Formats: sequence, C-alpha cells, structure tokens
Amino acid sequence: MNQADTLLAKLKSHAVKASRHSYSPYSRFPVGAAVFSETGQVYSGCNVENASLGLTQCAERAAVTAAVADGATAGSLGTLLIYTPGETAHSPCGACRQVMHELMADDAVVVSCCDGDELKTWTGPGYLPDPFVPESLPAFSSPKPES
Ligand code: THU
Repeated sequence: MNQADTLLAKLKSHAVKASRHSYSPYSRFPVGAAVFSETGQVYSGCNVENASLGLTQCAERAAVTAAVADGATAGSLGTLLIYTPGETAHSPCGACRQVMHELMADDAVVVSCCDGDELKTWTGPGYLPDPFVPESLPAFSSPKPES
C-alpha cells in the first residue's frame, strides 16, 4: 500500500468509528468524517441531528471543528475523508464545502467513500466554485500565515 492509500485507510477507520456514534434518528443516514492535520493528527466527527431540524451538524464540519478546537489553523488541514455506510459514496453538502474551503489547505484532498469500492475525490478548491471568501469582509485580516 502506498503512503496515500495508507493515510486513506487510517482516515476511513476513524470515520467509520465516528459514524457509529452518529446521532441521526430523523434521517437514519449516519455519516462519519475524519481529517488529517499538518501536525499529523486525525480528527473525526459524525452528524448530530436535532428535533429542531435546522440545527443538524454535519460530520465534516464536526471533524473540522474538532481540529480547530485542538489548535489547527486555517489552511493547515490536508486530507478529509467522508464515510457513509452502504454501496454509494455521497457528496459533501454545500455548507460543508464552504467551511472546508476556508479552513483546509489549498491543495487539500477530499474523499468520499462507503462500504463498497466506490470513491469520489476532489482536489484543491475545485469542490467549491466561486466561494464566499474572508477577503470579501472589510474587517478581515488574514489568519493564514504569509507564504
Ligand atoms: N450530512 C452530513 O453529515 N454531511 C453532508 O455533507 C451531508 C449530510 C448529514 C446531515 C443529516 O444528519 C443527514 O446527513 C441527512 O442529510
């Protein structure tokens, strides 16, 4: 197994584990996600629903939020993997793409997988055309280190 496949296998095992903790009694659609930080840590998340349906938190945003809470900085997150049980790999929602775009590295890879062989992969900001960006806000000052 090459390095990339080894990382994906590791992320998948974290995402599968997180999906088993999903709180999704309304959709019965459990999702797990895991993201790899530049410090080599893996952070995972699952979807958490609420009877007030609009308060549902997606798995991808939960994983990214966990990374930020542990000190990950904007632009420092590399590969993010999404897992849903079954034979179909599903696409991340628009809200998650917007959050990923702001916090993940420019060359980040997003992979969606399932129990079968199907994989969907997006590289770089291609997963979100024409995003709303922090620079649109007059008060914004860059949280990303200058390169
Ligand atoms: N969901 C995610 O966790 N991630 C996505 O990108 C799309 C949808 C969750 C939200 C809700 O709990 C369930 O899947 C059905 O929409």
